[in-house]
Amino acid sequence: MNSSSYVLCIFVAVCFTAVSADLTCGGRSEVSSIQCNGKEMTKGGLCELKRGQNASLVLAFVPGMSSKNVTAVCHGVIGGIPIPFNSINHQGCEGLTPSCPLVPKRPETFKTTIPVKQEYPKLKLIIKWELQDIASGDDVVCIVIPAQLV
Ligand SMILES: *[C@@H]1O[C@H](CO)[C@@H](O)[C@H](O)[C@H]1NC(C)=O
Ligand SMILES: *[C@@H]1O[C@H](CO)[C@@H](O)[C@H](O)[C@H]1NC(C)=O
Repeated sequence: MNSSSYVLCIFVAVCFTAVSADLTCGGRSEVSSIQCNGKEMTKGGLCELKRGQNASLVLAFVPGMSSKNVTAVCHGVIGGIPIPFNSINHQGCEGLTPSCPLVPKRPETFKTTIPVKQEYPKLKLIIKWELQDIASGDDVVCIVIPAQLV
């Protein structure tokens, strides 16, 4: 392989295996894609959350650590202040395919729903979603999605 095609391979591999760093907040995994309500999230993108409906969240990632069990944690960050959002399924393993235990480098898909109540105000916020290893408390995955309630 000549050097220019080698460089191209690296470039393409990077493009297709990681979301923008703006959409992650640490976490010991490579996040490959984030879909919010069926829309692929990219840098500068906004997820529209319809009030009175369940929003869907789908993440593809490659774990950088092993984990027997993970807790799902969600915060709505409004004006820089993280507000815990507890009406989600905290049992992270239930949304994972393949399910727990997580094995380093074995790709995973995580699917869940976020209930969006009709009475919430129509504001802009950042959804911070973490999958935390129960044993160590470390974030396996941490993502931040800019969203607009409509
Ligand atoms: C949202 O999901 C919950 C739990 O899966 C379900 O009980 C509820 O009916 C759903 N709400 C809507 C508006 O689809
Ligand atoms: C993960 O931990 C929770 C809370 O301790 C427990 O209810 C659940 O059964 C565990 N899941 C697995 C797959 O071990």
